[in-house]
Amino acid sequence: MEGLFISMEGPDGAGKTTQIELLNKYLSEQGYEVIITREPGGTRISEAIRGIILNKDFNEMNDVTELLLYAAARAQLVAEVIKPALSSGKAVISDRFVDSSVVYQGIARGLGINTVYDVNSYALQGVMPHFTFLLDLPAEAGLARKKKQAELDRMEMQTLDFHKKVAEGYRKLAELYSDRIFMIDASLPVDTIHGIIKDRIKGMIEV
Ligand code: TYD
Repeated sequence: MEGLFISMEGPDGAGKTTQIELLNKYLSEQGYEVIITREPGGTRISEAIRGIILNKDFNEMNDVTELLLYAAARAQLVAEVIKPALSSGKAVISDRFVDSSVVYQGIARGLGINTVYDVNSYALQGVMPHFTFLLDLPAEAGLARKKKQAELDRMEMQTLDFHKKVAEGYRKLAELYSDRIFMIDASLPVDTIHGIIKDRIKGMIEV
């Protein structure tokens, strides 16, 4: 069985975790060994880098430092987890991947889409998701969901304007890469969203 790499994207609070759990169950039933991972994180080193990136005491962090730290966490995750898993035919579901950097650092921070892909090409080693699902949600709704949860991290504490740029940036990216990125309205019922995701990947699984 060929390895399958799926990433789940969307603004903070869009419900990615629930969809990842449902997709995990579905892919396991199809015979895949499934690895679930998250960004930034997913390895010892990447989780340590995550601690630096999201630490709300580090509010002086430079945008380029932020970009490089996300890329560094990603490099370790690709080399240590994702590449080996795909090589041995497993399915990998990642809660966020390089598109998060393109949208948050490239578009919302304004570093530029191409700059972000260029920097990340070192980290990716040619690994890109087969499918990316974007759970689309207005920035206000996402933040409201998040605020009900625990304490906000450094990224969640950014202004509403920043989060609006994120939501718009994702829509732009879905248009630019419409063959890979599939946008779904995150306000739809959980089962409906899961059905849409299954329909989209069925062709690849049943080959
Ligand atoms: P996390 O708690 O994982 O967010 P969520 O639960 O919303 O997925 O925190 C990750 C934060 O980092 C989130 O605000 C998005 C941001 N981020 C970037 O800015 N660039 C990136 O490359 C990645 C992977 C995440």
